[in-house]
Amino acid sequence: MSETVTTRPRTLEISVLRHNPSDPASTPRLEHFEIEEAEGMTLFIALNEIRENQDPTLQFDFVCRAGICGACGMLIDGRPGLACRTLTRDLGSRVTLAPLPVFRLIGDLSVDTGAWMQGMAERLETWVHLREQEPDLGALEERMEPALAEQIYELERCIECGCCVAACATARMREDFVGAAGLNKIARFRLDPRDARSDAQFYELIGDESGVFGCMTLLGCEDNCPKNLTLSTQIAFLRRKMLIAAS
Ligand code: SF4
Ligand code: F3S
Ligand code: FES
Repeated sequence: MSETVTTRPRTLEISVLRHNPSDPASTPRLEHFEIEEAEGMTLFIALNEIRENQDPTLQFDFVCRAGICGACGMLIDGRPGLACRTLTRDLGSRVTLAPLPVFRLIGDLSVDTGAWMQGMAERLETWVHLREQEPDLGALEERMEPALAEQIYELERCIECGCCVAACATARMREDFVGAAGLNKIARFRLDPRDARSDAQFYELIGDESGVFGCMTLLGCEDNCPKNLTLSTQIAFLRRKMLIAAS
């Protein structure tokens, strides 16, 4: 007769760094919640359960629940990651969650990555600058070698979650640092044959310490990018190209 072994579900203690900067009475504090772990539970599910059953005021962001929108970035036991793609079974029974640093805190685990990303995009002009002789939309349909299209597509997989920025000591020290996310955008537009900008013009945008020369190759960006982008390789390549453009 076979014996069925049943294991009791774990009780998870989830500690959340809470603070509401728009409430003058609020002070940063750790609050602890206990929930029973379920099969296939993600931090998204766990946080929703806490909000539904224990504290409806808990703030956090989710849109897609599938690692696509980049909204659910947070510090998970001190490391930036996507809550919707993090299974509780890969964590200990005590988990600490905190908002991503660098970005403006909205409340609890919710931060304004959107404003940061928009500021960076405007500063780096992250759109195709068409050549003057090709101002019509037809130029956008220009044929591109599949290998090059693949390279550009690879860099476009960034979901602007902010994990690379939150993991970077330079970004924490320098408010104007465009971060690996910004440098990855420049690498993407530099590759695009439709973009008229020269390396000298890209140098104007990122050729200083707020750009490619601010990176100290700390690698936190690449280690924590949920899309596994080869950020440090892109940055090293850009740095070489910018040095050439400056000489
Ligand atoms: Fe997120 Fe990676 Fe994009 Fe950085 S480069 S914003 S970590 S997807
Ligand atoms: Fe920061 Fe990544 Fe450079 S962590 S210092 S941008 S290699
Ligand atoms: Fe969209 Fe997590 S909810 S990436």
